[in-house]
Amino acid sequence: MTLTTTLDTPLLADPADVAADPSRYRVLTGDRPTGPLHLGHYFGTLLNRVRLQRQGVETFLVVADYQVITDRLSPGEIAANVREVVLDNLAAGIDPDRTTVFAHSAVPALNQLMLPFLSLTTVAELQRNPTVKDEAAASGLASISGLLLTYPVHQAADILFCHGNLVPVGDDQLPHVEQTRTIARRFNERYAGGRAVFREPQALLSPAPRLLGVDGRKMSKSRGNAIALKATADETARLIRRSVTDARRDITYDPAGRPGVSSLVEIAALCLGVAPDEVAAQVGSGGSAMLKALVTEVVNEELRPVRERRAAFAAEPGLVGSLLADGAERATALAESTLADVQDALGMGAY
Ligand code: TRP
Repeated sequence: MTLTTTLDTPLLADPADVAADPSRYRVLTGDRPTGPLHLGHYFGTLLNRVRLQRQGVETFLVVADYQVITDRLSPGEIAANVREVVLDNLAAGIDPDRTTVFAHSAVPALNQLMLPFLSLTTVAELQRNPTVKDEAAASGLASISGLLLTYPVHQAADILFCHGNLVPVGDDQLPHVEQTRTIARRFNERYAGGRAVFREPQALLSPAPRLLGVDGRKMSKSRGNAIALKATADETARLIRRSVTDARRDITYDPAGRPGVSSLVEIAALCLGVAPDEVAAQVGSGGSAMLKALVTEVVNEELRPVRERRAAFAAEPGLVGSLLADGAERATALAESTLADVQDALGMGAY
């Protein structure tokens, strides 16, 4: 393919540029199938993805099954979780006719790109990657696996196999987009005589803040503190009722001083499409009980259509398997062509 742009773009993409000329962009984004997606994913990335898809940006979505085994001792229910993640994306509005959805494991040529990319990455770079460090600490394991240390390079293969140039992510993923840009640049310089085989992708940050879970820590599938998209209205109410607040009666929005209360305020504000201060002022002296009742109501309202669509997709036999097979076919064609270009540049093409 011909690459329109290139080097020297800033790390962060400007959403206005994307809206002005969607045809210049190709999105690659992904989810780790460690469990069903939750409200943090919904406001953090899913809505953003669906908006880009509607703007007409060509989109690839990797279900990063090989990333599940980076930081845990057992793989868990990978097959079941892949299905959950695909259904969550469909429910949020991802349209498989417009977005290529595939799993790592189904696209061998993508995975093979990791070898030349590893050769362009230093151990020191990986060891100082702050997200890898956080994930290593959060895993609770005494030692980290080689796959955890090197997964940012695998993520570079995810992005570069399809020449993705726009990566919608939360800020925790910025180090990986930086690493991908470094790999693209070094590949062109060291292995392709300065020819732009790869372009440097840009990150598109989500406008939504990172949400806290009901225990006051980062909302996370593995911590059991998350409101899953597929949860029932009752489960949602129960989770919100037990979320951590504080002893002060009046409700204010003060993320640093009152993280628990402010996270609930934030969730309500996102659902209502208003500023957090407005929600805080509205609840005011109604206290946490009123705040929790409001959050429960607006979350269940926001997710009602998502949950309805999800149930309908889940009831279609074979849907997930066949859309993943179609996606893998499209992704494989691209990955093989990129891998051939890479091997050509290295003189590995024809022996
Ligand atoms: N690491 C990402 C996450 O935990 C998932 C992911 C895998 C991804 N491959 C990607 C995100 C490529 C962006 C681009 O959410």
